[in-house]
Amino acid sequence: MTKFLPALYFIHHVSWLLSCVNSLDPTLLPRMTFTQDEIALKSVILPGEIRTLLHPERDHGKLMAVGKRHLISLSFLYPPKTPVERKLLWAECPDTAASPNGCSYDVVLAHEREDASRVFVCGTDGAKTLCCDMNPSEDPPTCIPADDLESMRGSIRNFILKDAEHSALVESETSSSLYVTYSGSQEYVGVHKFGKNRVGPANHDKEQHYLGLVTSRRRDEPLQDKVYAFYKERNKDLNEWSSAWLPYVSQYCMADMGGPKNNLQFTWTSQMSARLLCGDPKSKQHFFEMVDIATVHAEQWQDTRVYVLFRNEWNMSAICVYSSQDIQDVFTNSPFKGTHNQRGRPRECVSDSTHLSMDVLKMTQINSEMEEWVRPIKKSGPLLISHHMYTHIRADAAFTKENTLLFLTRNCGGVDKVLESKSAAFIIAEYRPFAHRAHIDSIIHHPSSKKLYVSSRTQLVQMDVADCDHYGDTCEECVLARDPYCAWDGTGCTVATPTSDGVVQDVNSGNYHLCSSLPSHHITKVVNRSTMPEVAVALPHGHRYFLPCPVGSRHAHYSWHHDDGGATPCAWSPHGCLLLINGKREGAYTCVSEERGFSRVLARYAVHVTGSATSTRPSFWLCALAALIRTIT
Ligand SMILES: *[C@@H]1O[C@H](CO)[C@@H](O)[C@H](O)[C@H]1NC(C)=O
Ligand SMILES: *[C@@H]1O[C@H](CO)[C@@H](O)[C@H](O)[C@H]1NC(C)=O
Repeated sequence: MTKFLPALYFIHHVSWLLSCVNSLDPTLLPRMTFTQDEIALKSVILPGEIRTLLHPERDHGKLMAVGKRHLISLSFLYPPKTPVERKLLWAECPDTAASPNGCSYDVVLAHEREDASRVFVCGTDGAKTLCCDMNPSEDPPTCIPADDLESMRGSIRNFILKDAEHSALVESETSSSLYVTYSGSQEYVGVHKFGKNRVGPANHDKEQHYLGLVTSRRRDEPLQDKVYAFYKERNKDLNEWSSAWLPYVSQYCMADMGGPKNNLQFTWTSQMSARLLCGDPKSKQHFFEMVDIATVHAEQWQDTRVYVLFRNEWNMSAICVYSSQDIQDVFTNSPFKGTHNQRGRPRECVSDSTHLSMDVLKMTQINSEMEEWVRPIKKSGPLLISHHMYTHIRADAAFTKENTLLFLTRNCGGVDKVLESKSAAFIIAEYRPFAHRAHIDSIIHHPSSKKLYVSSRTQLVQMDVADCDHYGDTCEECVLARDPYCAWDGTGCTVATPTSDGVVQDVNSGNYHLCSSLPSHHITKVVNRSTMPEVAVALPHGHRYFLPCPVGSRHAHYSWHHDDGGATPCAWSPHGCLLLINGKREGAYTCVSEERGFSRVLARYAVHVTGSATSTRPSFWLCALAALIRTIT
């Protein structure tokens, strides 16, 4: 009978799922999963590559992107509009007369400036590089040289910037500087500074790939302002470390001007590098390949944290967290690697590096790697180890000091929302913004609007990541979600912050018992079989069917209860938890979820077995079966 085939197939499928799920700690699963149909998202088709999204929080529905040659206006409003492209003009274009269509500079990087009406843009034509400012609301958008970029323009003109590198614009009233990474194994690999002083890396033969730059400004001591570069370096000694890549952080003084004439002129004198450690000593799991970083800047520079995403050779992921203080401590106190005595080499930034002594300059050329490694904050292990292959990390720390929210993209197109709470990770939810497998090229998070933008090659999706009502319609479920964006306001799970008044939230422990302190609190949905309406099911004798139960939290335990007292755990499917009934046992079946002591009834069925297999009437279970067949085929 064909009717049974899906059931058999399904049983096989479920046992596979169970074996897969059981091997993992269930609390390492995302607590909730939100598919494309369940989350509030909007998407636009991109006309081409984009470099940067500009100030989207100003106007929720519309935003602007800097593309390769155009400014692109995108609208997420209804009705959908195709993106509008405006060609970017270069005022400084040397050959405007020769080519009336303007010159063909491709934008390589763009930064919003502190003065929010201006955007800093650098473009290259393969032979020359131009950097200038544009006002995106002007028509046509024109890139015009600015006063504070005067010295930068000269120093960068003959340097060809690479695509997809990292950069930081450090602004000052008189002269701004640009720090740019250059990855690979050829000439120029390292960090370059353009501005009043042009400084770059010394020649070396290492292959390095840069994953991010972090600026560290010291308000009380500007001379000690630094830039940190995070990168992975090709491992040349596979006997010592089995990994193909090793993770590093380098420091550079912003005040560095390079050495004197004929001795490290225009070359970093302050560069030092240190290995990063990310591993779990207990399980001997170590992670060497750096993938991406996210920075959480703090009021005090010492407290700034860098969340580094790593991968191992089996494509497992880990996140380790480093503090500026710990990085600084290694660069200040660690001996240099190797036996050479580097006594007398300054660890602090100096105001004029062109006056450094010959001895010091010689030392910097011998070796600049530290003996000690930078260890994660509080000498801890990874914040999270996951079997998923994550590709990007972003952080939002607009909460209490001990909480950070992380967004991690999966290689197949999902986004995990992870809470850092008291140095432990809790996976709040998995979002699936694409209908099918997709490669996420970039992810941009805007904390003030609580919107996440993810782009694939062709699509930009705007997701509302504070979609609180999806956690459930009870105070308990809202608190169990532990989402710092959400709190129970007495009537629903709504957008809030930990400082909102009169709401119930407990991000650190999800203690839903706080709900009972609400004056108007009624535990209506708690396990109480008499309050949930029953669905009547007529079942022909001898047939087997599935009863469905809607699943919310994956951290809950689901079970079926029969009114004779028997209980069965639930069989998982992508669409819920199911009970196979064989048409012998009549009575009431109740599906109950239980999470950390909070239980509620999710479904009730009154099963009535009819006399013969032929008296099939269209009834509820047929629909349930049809839904199931759709799910598994
Ligand atoms: C890891 O992922 C890469 C890229 O997706 C793939 O080529 C490689 O085979 C994977 N390695 C393992 C051990 O699964
Ligand atoms: C369910 O609710 C009813 C009415 O509110 C109450 O009388 C009954 O004791 C409850 N049953 C259980 C099992 O809590």
